[in-house]
This record gives sequence, C-alpha cells and structure tokens, in this order.
Amino acid sequence: MLLKRTADHSGKLMGYDIPAGTTIIPNFHAVHMDPTIWPEPEKFDPYRHIDKEGKFVHSHKIIPFSLGPRFCPGEQLARVEAYIYFAKLLQKYKILPGDQPPNIDGITSVVHFPKTFRIEQR
Ligand code: HEM
Repeated sequence: MLLKRTADHSGKLMGYDIPAGTTIIPNFHAVHMDPTIWPEPEKFDPYRHIDKEGKFVHSHKIIPFSLGPRFCPGEQLARVEAYIYFAKLLQKYKILPGDQPPNIDGITSVVHFPKTFRIEQR
C-alpha cells in the first residue's frame, strides 16, 4: 500500500466513477502479485527478469518506487545502496532455506515478512 491520495476532481477510472474528494490508496502488492502478469507470483523465480543471454530484463510492471510526479526521489540512491548491501552480504554469506516452521510468514502490515532462512559463512 502507498500513502493515500485525494482526487481533486471527478473522473472515471477503469469504468468506475471517482467523485472529487475520494480517498484513493494504490495497492502495489496487488500489482506485483498479479498472476496475469506474473504466473505463480509466490514462486521465487529470478528467470522472470533474465533473458536467454543472462542479461537483466527491465520491466515497467515493477514499480516499487511508484510512478508519476510523486514517485520516490530517492530511487537512484536506494538502488545503489541495495546493490552494495546485497553484493557485500552475498560475498560473505550463503542464505539458505530455514528449518524452522514459519510463525509470522505472510503476515502483512507495512512490510511483508520473509520465510525463515539460515545464514552460513562462505
Ligand atoms: C528501497 C528503498 C525505497 C523504496 C522502495 C521507496 C519507495 C517509495 C515510494 C513507494 C514512495 C511513494 C511515492 C508515491 O506516493 O507515489 C516514496 C516516496 C518518497 N521517497 Fe522513497 N523509497 C526508498 C528509498 C528512499 C530514499 C533512500 C530516499 C531519500 C534519500 C527516499 C525519499 C523519498 C521521498 C522524499 C518521498 C516522498 C516523495 C513525494 O511525496 O513527492 N526514498 N518512496
């Protein structure tokens, strides 16, 4: 979910009448887990984003930083930070499936909790 917006004028969106003043809350989780876009959306499958030559395939259907005039201005910084963070982590550690039954798996609030995992030093 994103921060809420308020429609400043009336209009139609996908066949729905939206009166001025309506609160609108974009649901990004639904976008990223839409099985008509991503078959088996719960499955971890990096090959969705890698072509036959092993190159990364950019998709306009992945929008964690939102879209439009209020999209996240920290996107470029966040991408560089995430790259350095995960590259450093994966150089030193292996991340493996956990052996404990998940107790909070799937509970969504502001964030979505991961399945349990183990970490081993390389
Ligand atoms: C993984 C990291 C991040 C993610 C996934 C993320 C995602 C988002 C999203 C979804 C929004 C809401 C956009 C909207 O309402 O349409 C947002 C807004 C914003 N983000 Fe980020 N963000 C990240 C990191 C950062 C960083 C590192 C900064 C600053 C250094 C930053 C600064 C902001 C600001 C100032 C806004 C408000 C923009 C506005 O309302 O006009 N974000 N971010």
